[in-house]
Amino acid sequence: MSVKIALFDAQEYDRASFDAIKENYDVECTYFDTHLTEATVSLCEGFDAICVFVNDKITSSIIDKLEKYGIRLLALRCAGYNNVDIEYAYGRLHIVRVPAYSPYAVAEHAIAMLLTSIRRIHKAYIRTRDFNFSLSGLTGFDLHGKTIGVIGTGKIGKCFIDICLGFGMKVLAFDKFPSDDPRITYTTLDEIWKNADIISLHCPLTDETMHLIDEESISKMKRGVIIVNTSRGALIDSEALLNAIKSRQVGGACLDVYEEESNLFFRDFSGHIIDDDILARLISMPNVIVSSHQAFLTNEALYNIADITLSNVTEFMASGICKNEICYKCSKFPNCTREQVNKCF
Ligand code: NAI
Repeated sequence: MSVKIALFDAQEYDRASFDAIKENYDVECTYFDTHLTEATVSLCEGFDAICVFVNDKITSSIIDKLEKYGIRLLALRCAGYNNVDIEYAYGRLHIVRVPAYSPYAVAEHAIAMLLTSIRRIHKAYIRTRDFNFSLSGLTGFDLHGKTIGVIGTGKIGKCFIDICLGFGMKVLAFDKFPSDDPRITYTTLDEIWKNADIISLHCPLTDETMHLIDEESISKMKRGVIIVNTSRGALIDSEALLNAIKSRQVGGACLDVYEEESNLFFRDFSGHIIDDDILARLISMPNVIVSSHQAFLTNEALYNIADITLSNVTEFMASGICKNEICYKCSKFPNCTREQVNKCF
């Protein structure tokens, strides 16, 4: 019998990529525009598996309801899992994810935002559409020879570093679990704050990394530093960032993610008044670029997300085991295949 999957927060591009590939799997996909919330969780009744994205907050109470409906599997169609109460889910609900779908997509978007910002492409685009060919105020700076601090050197961080090295930049990196990649020069966070002209975030959001960029760390940075965040919004204290932009301590910010994005991003609010004053003020700044969690959005990534998600669901339904399961306690998970030491996930 086909596995019945309910997909929440399903945008038109999700439907297209899942529809294009679902014939390869014995599944039935039902799409819901809405987020999975307390108010919508009853829609899950009767499904075998639930599929959600980055801004569906899977709380203990939602997990209880899913358990009550006899649902055993939550399939994240993303890599990060900070939106799920993993500890509470342990023993109640199995969680699978897509650990990598295109690190290039995110790394390339980070660079695209950085280049747009420092070469003022966003300003030039608007000017020339109005036949204003003045160059006044559009002066940028070379990336070649600049120092970039990269925090998190996993799949995306490494792709991003490769691109930066190609530009002739000096890369300083920090990772809680440094790799032995000879191309990467690791240092401390304090050295990054002190020396970097640009800082790009590529680590997950955890209790430890929450507000990694705050008033204190910003005060240690070079005046005029550019900050790029394509990872998770809450890595940055947005109010502290706004204050630092106003005081000119931060010279530019490229934000693909925002800590309060969940009720805004992926929806059209043009014509509405946004209640979030910090986001509205950030967007009004000439040196802030915001994209709405778009870094993953390439054809290649969407294909891989759909393929790996459906493969995760069918693998788990057939055997009760999936290599992409997130286990809260590795030692208790039967046949755990994880190889990295010191990391549960
Ligand atoms: P990954 O797991 O391959 O790499 C994450 C790296 O961060 C690892 O090397 C890990 O050791 C390091 N890390 C963990 N805790 C740390 C800490 N406290 N300080 C410094 N480094 C730490 O993950 P990947 O695929 O590179 O993704 C990175 C992040 O990018 C994800 O966690 C996710 O939040 C974000 N992302 C954003 C997307 C977007 O569309 N904007 C799409 C995909 C991922």
